[in-house]
Amino acid sequence: MMDTYILAVESSCDETSVSIVKNGCVEIATVVLSQMDIHASFGGVVPEVASRHHIENITMVFEEVFKKANMTINDIDAIAVTYGPGLIGSLLIGVQAAKTLAYLHNIPLVPVHHIAGHIYANNLVEPLKFPLIALVVSGGHTDLIYMKDNYSFERIGGTLDDAVGECYDKAARVMGLQYPGGPRVDKLASEGEDTYKLPVPLDDDSYNFSFSGLKSAVINLAHNEEQRGNEINVTNLATSFQNRVVEILTKKTMRALKEYNVDNLIVAGGVAANKGLRSKLDELCKQNNIHLCVPPIKYCTDNAAMIGAAGYYAYKIGRRASIDLNAKANDKLN
Ligand code: KG4
Ligand code: ZN
Repeated sequence: MMDTYILAVESSCDETSVSIVKNGCVEIATVVLSQMDIHASFGGVVPEVASRHHIENITMVFEEVFKKANMTINDIDAIAVTYGPGLIGSLLIGVQAAKTLAYLHNIPLVPVHHIAGHIYANNLVEPLKFPLIALVVSGGHTDLIYMKDNYSFERIGGTLDDAVGECYDKAARVMGLQYPGGPRVDKLASEGEDTYKLPVPLDDDSYNFSFSGLKSAVINLAHNEEQRGNEINVTNLATSFQNRVVEILTKKTMRALKEYNVDNLIVAGGVAANKGLRSKLDELCKQNNIHLCVPPIKYCTDNAAMIGAAGYYAYKIGRRASIDLNAKANDKLN
């Protein structure tokens, strides 16, 4: 079989990333230029600032990836690009760059949904085994997805309000932790005790989640303690918060595996980097004979290698975009 090389582009939030991926599973070279330090001073991603940096960096990121791979555009079979969902100004830069290259060099253009990318990050670790349940947990998404086969996505549930990563970042802010708060809360959570009484979010029979109540509970608790002149124990609050999050995510995921009679679980998205979530799922999957795949940290947060992995399968089933491809801030995974 001839090898297929995908040039992939990801710019949906604050990372400008380009990658070359072989056959949907081998990362040849990836460059990720993160703007995290720039946005940290604002306490979150500022969309206008993000788009400007994507514009400044994208050409350099393309040049760098070809240099790293020791390849040229003539070695590329298709160009995959994240068209959405994400910040519209940021997405447009990647989409425009991908369209320009595809048009100039007459290369097929493949549109990739950002969440398909997060899911296929796991294919860079080992081939996905079907049927599977994917727990997608990121700054913008919290979804449970059933996949019968490659590139077939059935969303069986998801958040009704805030995404879990967003909840981490907001809770971290009132704890006085710098953006992005998720990794900082995670670190503290392993050092403290579960002493704060916080609500368990949407503990019902559905596969849906709701994190806004938990977020408000943390914000209210921090404000009330401040008004009373009491200091909060940030470490214990981080532990209590993380325990509630991990409890509900793992409970609904394990139930989905059982009810759908599936024994493969993959975890995807930035919050898949969470140590508490990883170790609880590891323990539960071992107990229940479930095969668990969680990507290494570099594939959890936004990167173009995952778009190259998903893009390969999208390419194989004939997904193509024309030169009028537009970025979409919101779009259903299909
Ligand atoms: O997937 P991602 O890079 O961007 C989106 O597509 O949203 O996810 C970023 C999110 C942020 O909210 C960040 O705080 C969270 O992932 N995150 C974590 C951890 N590492 C990143 N949340 C909890 N624990 C972590 N270790
Ligand atoms: Zn993402």
